[in-house]
Amino acid sequence: MTLLAIETSCDETSVAVIRDGCALSNVVASQIRLHEEYGGVVPELATREHMRNLPLIAREAMARAGIAASEIEAVAATQGPGLPNALMTGLKFAQGLAFALDRPFIGIHHHEAHLYSPWIAGAPPRADFAAFQPNVSLIVSGGHTLLVSVPAPLRHRILGETVDDAAGECFDKVAKLLDLPYPGGPQLDRLAQTGNPTAHPFPRPMLNDPGFDFSFSGLKTSVRYFLDKRPELRAPGPARNDLCASVQAAIVEVLVAKTLRAAQQESARCVTASGGVSCNSGLRAALREACDRRGITLRLADASLCTDNAAMIGILAEQKLLAGCPPTSLDAEPNPSWELNAQEASGAVDD
Ligand code: KG4
Ligand code: ZN
Repeated sequence: MTLLAIETSCDETSVAVIRDGCALSNVVASQIRLHEEYGGVVPELATREHMRNLPLIAREAMARAGIAASEIEAVAATQGPGLPNALMTGLKFAQGLAFALDRPFIGIHHHEAHLYSPWIAGAPPRADFAAFQPNVSLIVSGGHTLLVSVPAPLRHRILGETVDDAAGECFDKVAKLLDLPYPGGPQLDRLAQTGNPTAHPFPRPMLNDPGFDFSFSGLKTSVRYFLDKRPELRAPGPARNDLCASVQAAIVEVLVAKTLRAAQQESARCVTASGGVSCNSGLRAALREACDRRGITLRLADASLCTDNAAMIGILAEQKLLAGCPPTSLDAEPNPSWELNAQEASGAVDD
């Protein structure tokens, strides 16, 4: 099956062409530079940029894949969750294309798609469903922090999620307190690499809580109070790097401990991670070390697929169509606050 997939839930415009589990192309236009001066994503600007980019990116994705429009057998797009108008641009573009080509359309849950990005690897990138094991998946981005049990492809159950800020939001807000450029997560990660992670014992929120939920807003607040008392730590230098390393260590310890405990509870032989924060060098190293120690397989999304991309949307859409899930109506609207466990609209099977 040859399928064209679109992702526009936030600030990345992405189009991919998928054929038989393989990403023939995956074009991503990031808007980071556009939103930089505002210190965060401006929804109106994101929407306008998606509308400007979509026809160009779609043409480029088809050219890179070497396919003509007549070869597209199905069209997919992110239906939610995300910024309402940003979602609308990609969804309506995809539905219009499906209508014009008289092909099925399938609306995809963004987080459900993230569950599959760690399985896309190789050259050309292909989804390795045969090796899919019961896994526990950590999705960590600027907007979400989720722990999900995935016993088999197209089945999932949320184990825990953040009750306030997402992990990426915590990275970004702490980076802002340190006057680091947007988005702050990668900058904080870079400085942390030469810092001492034990310099400051910041709280590990909900670390010993018996459940799998997370909370990061208290950590950010404690860093703010700490900096009020020690403003000199904002200045570039080794002391600031120690602070960055200490904050990162607190976030990473909570994420890794809960993920591994969830894997144990679910008897999962595999842990996966995706979303922008899964690019974090400290998180990747700590997950690797913890999984190796317990003999658990670790599948991290390739750095190019950690952040939002259309390849993961298309890979999941193809699996759903092959599994006999019904296409989505061409009248369907975006679902900006779609819950991952409420899957009836996309035809997926809940555990
Ligand atoms: O998945 P993503 O591109 O977008 C969504 O939020 O949906 O994730 C972006 C988030 C931002 O908060 C960014 O600061 C964070 O991922 N991030 C990182 C790193 N790279 C990206 N956080 C920590 N360390 C990194 N290396
Ligand atoms: Zn995402």
